Amino acid sequence: MRMRPNHLGSGKTRNRSIAGLVAWAAASAMVAPVITAHADEAQQPLRLCADPTNLPFSSDSPSQPGFYVEIGQALAQALGRPITYDWYKSYFGKRTVRVTLLGKQCDAMIGLPRSEDFMGPAVIFSSPFAKEGYALVAAKGPALGGIDGLRGKRVAVQYASTPQNLLASRDDVQMVTVLSPEEGMQALDQGKADVAFIWGPVAGWLNKTGYNDRYQIELTEGEGLSWDAAIGFAKTSTELRDRVDAVLPQLQRTIGELAVKYGLPSGKPVRFGVNGAVPAGTTTGMGSGAQTGVHVTEIAKVAATEIKGDAAAPAAEAVGAGKEIFNGTCAHCHGPDAIQSERKIDLRLLRHRYGDDMRQTFWTTVHEGRPTKGMPAWKEVFTDDQFDNIYSFLLTVQTESND
Ligand code: HEC
Repeated sequence: MRMRPNHLGSGKTRNRSIAGLVAWAAASAMVAPVITAHADEAQQPLRLCADPTNLPFSSDSPSQPGFYVEIGQALAQALGRPITYDWYKSYFGKRTVRVTLLGKQCDAMIGLPRSEDFMGPAVIFSSPFAKEGYALVAAKGPALGGIDGLRGKRVAVQYASTPQNLLASRDDVQMVTVLSPEEGMQALDQGKADVAFIWGPVAGWLNKTGYNDRYQIELTEGEGLSWDAAIGFAKTSTELRDRVDAVLPQLQRTIGELAVKYGLPSGKPVRFGVNGAVPAGTTTGMGSGAQTGVHVTEIAKVAATEIKGDAAAPAAEAVGAGKEIFNGTCAHCHGPDAIQSERKIDLRLLRHRYGDDMRQTFWTTVHEGRPTKGMPAWKEVFTDDQFDNIYSFLLTVQTESND
């Protein structure tokens, strides 16, 4: 997961993340250790799995541990248990969850999308503690208030993201495609876009740490735009899950303070629907508001088809998207931009090596891996579209020799 979005849900392509906090109805109380009947287990540390380099969510830096790690610390304290960490990069997506959480290297993973579709029933969830989603980022001024507020504007959207699909059907909005939330913020800063419709938590963090809080950030919600974030456990950990659920309401005030500390956007999300924004009603999870959600999904599908139909522009975008995945996930073995002096793993030689079988070899190898040779299988991590993008990128770097 470098589920930065992609999250887990969206792969990082890590574009995932959080946006508004779920409004907890319960008044928060002081955090106090809970007396547990399981004295033996109470002595055992709570083992938290987290990405060492994924701020604002988590980091292995003690001075700036991140939103999820600090929630984990408050949680362990409320459970009366010490805490330990299992650090693991999240950009392996579901594979990360399989290796760490389901591999019993840790007891809990904070910030998973609370959805049966996400590795259920192997993974079970706590109640949601926050909402993560895309947000509208713009210079401070009147609220944009939803899709109609984007009319006539230049809007930065990330390649292959829900906002891009959502806006593809609007000829009154000019899209500026970017490859990351960072680039979206830069587009705003450089005057290339009026609004960035990008992953909220990352936008909030960048706004706070790199842009002096210059921009206002409005959360959005709707199918594919936001998720409830929860704590994930292996399905055998129902007892721990229930104990966590029992103390979560006490932690709500702390969670709210941490959201502010890490710059996560707050406030009532703007709901996006087929007819533009409908007034934000109750703050609900992805399961509700189904009707609006369905429409949005349909729009997204139609939009996606249209995008594919446009042959020229997406090619460059596919290469860019593939390169980003490659450099995020494949580069630490195959070299940045596929530059690698060791011939055996130099992917610039694929054509030279396989000729007409190049695509087939690529496809089989990335799907199934070569486990005995140290090449992981990626079929659970990336979609076929993402493999196509990686392939498009690799096509641009083929050469006859690597000396
Ligand atoms: C943990 C290290 C590692 C990572 C990460 C990794 N690979 Fe590999 N990959 C290997 C090794 C080692 C081989 C060579 C296997 C062999 O000797 O047959 C290989 C082989 C390949 C081959 C076949 C090369 C050939 O000439 O036969 C392809 C294609 C490939 N990798 C693509 C990828 C892509 C795409 C990614 C990212 C999604 C990736 N790899 C990530 C280690 C890795």
